[in-house]
Amino acid sequence: MRKIAIIPGDGIGIEVTRAALRVLECAKAKFDLSLTFTEFDWGAEKYLREGVSLPAGAVEMFEQEYAAIFTGAFGDPRVPDNRHAADILLGLRFKLDLYINLRPVVLLADRLTPLKNRTRTDLDFVIFRENTEGLYVNAGGVLKRGTPQEVAIQEEINTRHGVERIIVAAFEYARQHGRQRVTLADKSNLLTYGHDLWRRTFREVASRFPEIEANAQYIDAMAMLMITNPEQYQVIVTNNLFGDILTDLGAGLVGGLGLAASGNIHPGKVSLFEPVHGSAPNIAGKDMANPIGAILTAAMMLEYLGHPEAAQAVESAVSACIAANQVTSDIGGTLGTQAAGEAVVARM
Ligand SMILES: NC(=O)c1ccc[n+]([C@@H]2O[C@H](COP(=O)([O-])OP(=O)(O)OC[C@H]3O[C@@H](n4cnc5c(N)ncnc54)[C@H](O)[C@@H]3O)[C@@H](O)[C@H]2O)c1
Repeated sequence: MRKIAIIPGDGIGIEVTRAALRVLECAKAKFDLSLTFTEFDWGAEKYLREGVSLPAGAVEMFEQEYAAIFTGAFGDPRVPDNRHAADILLGLRFKLDLYINLRPVVLLADRLTPLKNRTRTDLDFVIFRENTEGLYVNAGGVLKRGTPQEVAIQEEINTRHGVERIIVAAFEYARQHGRQRVTLADKSNLLTYGHDLWRRTFREVASRFPEIEANAQYIDAMAMLMITNPEQYQVIVTNNLFGDILTDLGAGLVGGLGLAASGNIHPGKVSLFEPVHGSAPNIAGKDMANPIGAILTAAMMLEYLGHPEAAQAVESAVSACIAANQVTSDIGGTLGTQAAGEAVVARM
């Protein structure tokens, strides 16, 4: 039996996780999967009650005993600095060295894209975002804070090791999934040290995958081309900051935050899967949240765990529900969160 940790978190995280867990239990029964699910009540409520965000020993426990972690979302207006969310999510991402942030951008029904005259064949790619370095490592400092002479430095960290492993992961994914092109997004024309490292490493890694076309673009051009010519993309690889922005742009192209799934992955190690959206306090507790992002995240986790047939069954059930408009109001349906989740279970 492989153990899966379930951390619903806060707000709609709790609601969408309940729906995703129903789908996981259904997949487990249908495909006879050897998985057990253990829930953890970590989130704002526990933090406010006990002062505990990520309990001591949690990282070691996951490393030693668990195959994967599924989280809902974290964030609560009663914790204004979101300390608990940073401790749990960023803590796990960094301490488990989850260097791949994988986000698919797939159009599940033509009506869901805001682009004119685009269909499912035009929008079908994945983004590999570097998840442990770049501008998000909190390196830098402030001088003369709060004065007119204030100086703020935020440094971008790019290591050869970090850059190479995310680029290798993107090419390996392309090879395994029959994708013919990998596109790098950088700003090497102006960031001539850090992003030159990305370009050189990209070319070097590409030479090890001669059957795959390697294409490098500047991030500003890519932001435009993702809208005007999205059909050219199959696998995109980029740094932490650019990936953060591009993945939300990608989510917007295929129906919005309620549908977007993501994995924080270290191949061969315990990895963390989470829907892209936050805890959405504006709709929390109203049974309005779209559970599809969480359900597709569960499918991604099943694929990672080596159950592609179960993942495929979940994805097909989701597509069928969208086609039949058995969905929540954010994408044009009339169902509540739990009913939309049950519709997926019924189709499976
Ligand atoms: N990974 C995470 O846990 C994560 C990610 C982003 C934001 N947050 C936190 O969540 C809280 C709210 O942040 P925010 O409002 O910027 O982002 P959000 O993703 O929670 O919400 C943005 C907008 O999208 C809508 N939305 C989000 N998910 C939806 C869904 N599944 N179905 C339907 N509509 C959905 C919300 O109602 C809201 O209007 C903050 O505390 C923030 O820090 C957490």
